[in-house]
Amino acid sequence: MEPFILDLEPGTYYFCACGKSSNLPYCDGAHQGSEFAPHQVEISEARKVGICKCLQSKTTPFCDGTNLNLA
Ligand code: FES
Repeated sequence: MEPFILDLEPGTYYFCACGKSSNLPYCDGAHQGSEFAPHQVEISEARKVGICKCLQSKTTPFCDGTNLNLA
């Protein structure tokens, strides 16, 4: 499972932590009523990021390569 590769402009982003958003990797509010809250990320300079899709990264919401070791 490969991460979401995004070219982000400076700004504030909210990435889904619950896996239920219909607009992954962004939070769409589907977590409401659960124990989850979105990851708030401030991007100060335009850059490319890898956002975790497998939900196993230790550096969420960013990919840390854990997906490469999953069966
Ligand atoms: S929809 Fe998943 S954290 Fe908001």
